[in-house]
Amino acid sequence: MESVVSISPTPTEMSRVAAELFARLAHEAVAARGRFLVSLSGGGTPMALYRLLAGSPYRESLPWAQMYFFWGDERCVPPEDAESCYNQAQMALLRQVPVPQANLLRVKGELGPQPAARAYAAVLKEWADAGLDWPRFDLVLLGLGSDGHTASLFPGSVETSGLATVAVTAHYQDRPANRVSLTPDVFNAARVVAFLAVGAEKADALQQTLGGPREPLRLPAQRIQPVEGQLWWLVDEAAARLLPDDLKRI
Ligand code: 6PG
Repeated sequence: MESVVSISPTPTEMSRVAAELFARLAHEAVAARGRFLVSLSGGGTPMALYRLLAGSPYRESLPWAQMYFFWGDERCVPPEDAESCYNQAQMALLRQVPVPQANLLRVKGELGPQPAARAYAAVLKEWADAGLDWPRFDLVLLGLGSDGHTASLFPGSVETSGLATVAVTAHYQDRPANRVSLTPDVFNAARVVAFLAVGAEKADALQQTLGGPREPLRLPAQRIQPVEGQLWWLVDEAAARLLPDDLKRI
């Protein structure tokens, strides 16, 4: 697995780096395979990236009709709820660009955790690559919680081997507790996984995830290790401040 840590001076600069990576991968995937499959992340961090992609030059230049959007996790709320990851991505990006509605493969969180997880596993199966029950995403965007969680894979969460999706009941800050998450197996089949993390409150989790002993049960982000893909960590200086020098490869 090839892994790169890119440290930007500010969150704004990190979002610019992320937008450039997103655009490059979209163009490359469409040139190579005729389509770009991306799994979006919830949380606040990717919003600046989404807003950048909704503006110039990306709005005009990205191959929106050949881009297919999936979600790495979703809260079990209706799609118009302010806490819906789908809704948040719609507001910041998808409503502003010429992407066909049929290209938005959202998790139906409103069905409740188990039915929504089952229904999304069936969607992923329709898009599956040979030998898998899910697609090989061209890009998976993920966030990092200050407790080391990623997507809706929380510390102590259950083993998910062989499954595409998992129904999650977790209490996290004031966010809805019922969620659906894709599993590490799905993320790890991707061609590129990019974590986005900014701010001093992420520094400890970032240092432990990248530099600490391997404890995937306590630090679910450590479960993300693409089998044949690249792993990018796009972070700002505040989040990177506890990283040892040998991990700070730009
Ligand atoms: C969610 C996310 C979650 C998020 C992290 C980081 O739906 O909330 O999938 O895993 O990425 O909690 O969130 P922030 O970007 O808000 O710090």
